[in-house]
Amino acid sequence: MPARTFKVRQLLTIIRRTRTPRMTVSRYDSAIAPLERWFLKRLRARTLAMLPESSRILEVGAGTGLNFPFYPRASVGVASEPSHEMLARAQSKNIPQGVSLVQTCAERLPFADDAFDAAFATLVFCSVASPRQAFAELRRVVRPGGTIVLLEHVRPDGLLGYVFDALNVLTVALFDDHFNRRTADEARRAGLETVHVERRAFGIIQIIVCVKRGTGVGGQGSGVEFE
Ligand SMILES: C[S@@+](CC[C@H](N)C(=O)[O-])C[C@H]1O[C@@H](n2cnc3c(N)ncnc32)[C@H](O)[C@@H]1O
Repeated sequence: MPARTFKVRQLLTIIRRTRTPRMTVSRYDSAIAPLERWFLKRLRARTLAMLPESSRILEVGAGTGLNFPFYPRASVGVASEPSHEMLARAQSKNIPQGVSLVQTCAERLPFADDAFDAAFATLVFCSVASPRQAFAELRRVVRPGGTIVLLEHVRPDGLLGYVFDALNVLTVALFDDHFNRRTADEARRAGLETVHVERRAFGIIQIIVCVKRGTGVGGQGSGVEFE
């Protein structure tokens, strides 16, 4: 079998395994392991290296905690995730000191305005029900001048984009996974400034760094206390 065909098949199998609800939680880590070895672990490290050290951070859609090893040094904050089962898995991992787990979805964050210096998500905006509402919430809870960093698969530019439009019909129906989201555009629509967009794999995977511009006073004493 040609190597390219094998990789496409392998990729579809991984998507199916990580997206089918009954398989998702128990097999998520093992299903995604080939991608981690192939490129994902490196991209996670690179993405989280763009977060400030010694700051208050929020992760949304933390899943089973695969980003924990890459959290910035001396950070405090919250790893949030809507799925109770995913959170239970994350709980069994090596949670960075000063980070608490909270069950919540990105569209309704139970945190005060300007509570965090930075927020991030990896492979989450393809799943959220309302990217618009999720960005509005991230913008609200990150302080002015703060950073939002994303690692996402998105709709690529050019002809390939139309292929992803077609694939999207299937991936949404089968796996509840959106293959044609324009996540950087959505961030801009929410009033965030995208200061860095790094395209990988023909633009299918992007690291997106956004800044919340503004002059307000940051969230010291904003009602959220971290360890
Ligand atoms: C493909 S997994 C990625 C998990 C983890 N971020 C990672 O990189 O391994 C997608 C995650 O998004 C979470 N998710 C789905 N809808 C969400 C929402 N509305 N708000 C926050 N997280 C959501 C899922 O529960 C799941 O943990």
